[in-house]
Amino acid sequence: MRGIVKSFNVGTEGELTVLPGCDFQVPRGEFTAVVGASGSGKSTLMNIIGLLDRPSAGAYLLDGIDVLDSTDDQLAHYRSQAIGFVFQNFNLVGRISAAKNVEMPLVYAGVPAKQRAQRAAELLELVGMADRAHHLPNELSGGQKQRVAIARALANDPDILLADEPTGALDSHTGRRVMDLFHTLHREHGKTIVFITHNPELAEETERTVTMRDGILQEEPREH
Ligand SMILES: Nc1ncnc2c1ncn2[C@@H]1O[C@H](COP(=O)(O)OP(=O)(O)OP(=O)(O)O)[C@@H](O)[C@H]1O
Ligand SMILES: [Mg+2]
Repeated sequence: MRGIVKSFNVGTEGELTVLPGCDFQVPRGEFTAVVGASGSGKSTLMNIIGLLDRPSAGAYLLDGIDVLDSTDDQLAHYRSQAIGFVFQNFNLVGRISAAKNVEMPLVYAGVPAKQRAQRAAELLELVGMADRAHHLPNELSGGQKQRVAIARALANDPDILLADEPTGALDSHTGRRVMDLFHTLHREHGKTIVFITHNPELAEETERTVTMRDGILQEEPREH
């Protein structure tokens, strides 16, 4: 992205510009951490990266697709195939099992029931949750919920994983296990990962850290 601007209408007070002109480039296969103060614009940027929201101005190329030139339908299709989201508060559907949660993106993609069940079982195995497949979310711990949410994000085998403070609601031990899962998805499955965190030690484990300051990203030099 080059010169990405995002402004919000805030009623009578006019416009609030959160991103005044943000540049960001992520090579395929990289694991990047985004850090920065609360309110600095990290989630706003993530929603634009993940095609959930459109920038007010600027240029954004995602896998060769000119995002500003694409229709909402094109972006929705691309998003469902190419991008998996993981959120701080898991965003699982409470009244259906872990396995059914993982199947949801496959329902939207029109995958037949038998294949959906098979794929959900494989993904729950991958995240170490096979033995909890038929539990409801409120029967799972925070870390277990997040592993189910990661399995759901992987349902359509996206190339890109976007995680907005995925360990923010977890104790350090549980957060550690979730972080290890992201490392595995990066190293062994080649995922491109953008990972927002308030934890500088977790950020340090990735390949690159960028810091959001008032809507502008700055590279953090690494000693090694
Ligand atoms: N839809 C919206 N309408 C108006 N203002 C918004 C909207 N979304 C975000 N903002 C404002 O944009 C600024 C950046 O918010 P954002 O959620 O991107 O911050 P953040 O860096 O993710 O913070 P945190 O670390 O607390 O999650 C905040 O001042 C917020 O109030
Ligand atoms: Mg945020």
